[in-house]
Amino acid sequence: MIATQSQERARTVARFTDQVAIVTGGGSGIGEAVGRLLAAEGARVVLADVNTAGADRVAHDIKANEGLVDVFKVDVADAEAVQQLVEFTVKRFGKLDIAVNNAGIGGEMNAVGDQSIAGWLKVINVNLNGVFYCMRAEIPAMLEAGGGSIVNMSSILGSVGFAMSPAYVAAKHGVVGLTQTAALEYATRGIRVNAVGPGFIKTPLLDANLDEPTTKFIADLHPVKRLGTAEEVANLVAFLASREASFITGSYHLVDGGYTAQ
Ligand code: NAI
Repeated sequence: MIATQSQERARTVARFTDQVAIVTGGGSGIGEAVGRLLAAEGARVVLADVNTAGADRVAHDIKANEGLVDVFKVDVADAEAVQQLVEFTVKRFGKLDIAVNNAGIGGEMNAVGDQSIAGWLKVINVNLNGVFYCMRAEIPAMLEAGGGSIVNMSSILGSVGFAMSPAYVAAKHGVVGLTQTAALEYATRGIRVNAVGPGFIKTPLLDANLDEPTTKFIADLHPVKRLGTAEEVANLVAFLASREASFITGSYHLVDGGYTAQ
């Protein structure tokens, strides 16, 4: 039987009813798309971002659609601030079920021999340490709630190299290993942990780092000959976060237009 649109909507709206989610980097790009999707399907969402202007804009739209949302200003590279984010979420919405640790930056583009130490540390602090600080704070709250689901944002560059981005590539590989390890540690305690590996996605992050010809060159590296969209990544994240993915943990899921199949 082919589902009608209203049947589809009834099914999807129920996916996150009564669930509470944190989305880091929820003020732009992929995090924005994830926040919008989780809220549209019933979750109470905290958009956590160092840029509250973006998160406020997204929250405004979600509220206009009768979604439940709040914004929390946080730098994920600050372990204490991340702890406060989780405390805020539990106080505001009662518990924590879902965490999408997505905040990330591009960073310095240089070969290993030319990479500045400051540039290296900046990317590792946000893209790797940030994910660790988030999980470290989120897991106790999830155990308190009886379990949960964590989705960490890696990249295709969590499994292959990319010249001139050593810190970014190392951080994204680190996120995959951290994800697998946490999944093993909490598999019998109701917490699933997965990582997502997007190909190049058209977001402000990409626009800020690449000029037009480079963007075209990179799009062509994907067998589908285009960049992905934030919504295409959000669909995978939402699936992994949902109960539909109840047997999926400790794995790294690509959404890359065939990039890594080559
Ligand atoms: P974006 O730049 O559009 O959004 C990132 C958001 O994270 C922004 O709102 C920014 O303010 C926030 N953020 C940055 N540093 C932060 C910090 N220290 N603390 C809290 N929030 C912070 O970027 P996009 O493209 O949506 O990227 C999201 C994630 O997806 C990142 O982890 C990125 O590495 C990853 N990714 C992106 C790809 C792409 O091609 N755009 C491909 C693969 C992975």
